[in-house]
Amino acid sequence: MQNIGLVKIGTILCLETNLFAPILLLQKFHDVTLGLEKNKGQQLGLVRRRKEINLMKKRLLAGMFATLMAASMVACGSDGGSTGGAAPADGGEATEAEGGDAAASGDVITVGFAQVGHESDWRTASTKSVQDAFSAANGYDLQFVDCDNDSKAQIDAVRQFVQNDVDYIVIDPIVSTGWDTVLTECEDAGIPVIVIDRTIEDSDKYVSWVGSEFMNEGLASGAWLKAYAEAKGIDDLNVLVIEGSNGSSAQIGRTDGFKKYADEEGWTILDSQDGNFTQEGGQQVMESYCKSYAGKFNVVVCQNDNEAFGAMDAMKAAGVSYGVDGDVILISFDACKAGLEYVQSGDINADFMCYPLQGSYCADIIKALQNGETVAKETFMTEPWYVAEDILPSITYTNNAGEEVTEDLIVVTDAASQASY
Ligand code: AHR
Repeated sequence: MQNIGLVKIGTILCLETNLFAPILLLQKFHDVTLGLEKNKGQQLGLVRRRKEINLMKKRLLAGMFATLMAASMVACGSDGGSTGGAAPADGGEATEAEGGDAAASGDVITVGFAQVGHESDWRTASTKSVQDAFSAANGYDLQFVDCDNDSKAQIDAVRQFVQNDVDYIVIDPIVSTGWDTVLTECEDAGIPVIVIDRTIEDSDKYVSWVGSEFMNEGLASGAWLKAYAEAKGIDDLNVLVIEGSNGSSAQIGRTDGFKKYADEEGWTILDSQDGNFTQEGGQQVMESYCKSYAGKFNVVVCQNDNEAFGAMDAMKAAGVSYGVDGDVILISFDACKAGLEYVQSGDINADFMCYPLQGSYCADIIKALQNGETVAKETFMTEPWYVAEDILPSITYTNNAGEEVTEDLIVVTDAASQASY
């Protein structure tokens, strides 16, 4: 298994927030061993092909430049002094001879990033993390596209990166399917693709993925609700779900993980609608739920914090009480700073973290590829679970890898909420 700079990543992120230190030390780097050899060959092939393409382009440009300069010297009657065409052309060739492609020789590395949009606090933190990692000061030229939750716009952005001939492409896929054709185009152009956050399910033509195990987030929320209801003596659970953007792996994993518990425990899921991971979406769906299911529900699951903020506004307006002292148990995901403040105040009962600061992981993958190293096909974030009440110390559940795990529940303090993103 290839460690892609764990110590360094840990150092960088611990500087950002000391309280993440235990989380970061637990980050696990997980190779899919079956696919590793194929992946290694694919990665090395792509980087090699990229270098060959860059070399050809440079030679062509150098030749064109030399021809143009010679022509202009003839036209101007120059005697071919020291600043003639040979110097830049020679300079280009020398760089190649010494260091392969531009990126390997210490020149700027161009990265295209097709971001989902700007729908949530999580997304804002993700964008900043990638922009910080791929800053000009760090030697990158970042081409950033906010795809505004539009899948077609995201595919177009990736195609534009291919046209722009960037060195690497980073994608946070809005939806998990529909990727194979465009990823084949990237592969044909010799541009390595790194996927972050959400997953791609219908293609393996990317070199590495860094993100969250969304199914485990959903399973953990179900395991927590089961244990919490038992501890409180609540045996009739009637649940309303506000889903994240439909078709995203975050929505699919959280929905399926929670539903497994709902099915096993016989909870009633009264309704499950798309709130698009936005505060506005959460509010609209909850307003309609409050009318349709008045007095009939005692659990609301919001698939991210921003939806929970909107849902709280809607419940308040409808006179529905929620949280630790209310009639409705409120569950959320992300555990951003504002989300954890609501857990601390008892408005949200439990919040399951989704960790967005993946930029430095991405940069380390690119550095490893530049050095001809193999990188892990998958890197999972390790994410803690936060609660408002000191009732249950931990939850035990079978995770998506089939392992029985016991994980701590962290009661939110000032320090925890302030340390979050
Ligand atoms: O893909 C991660 C999810 O997308 C986060 O939970 C949500 O806040 C974001 O918009």
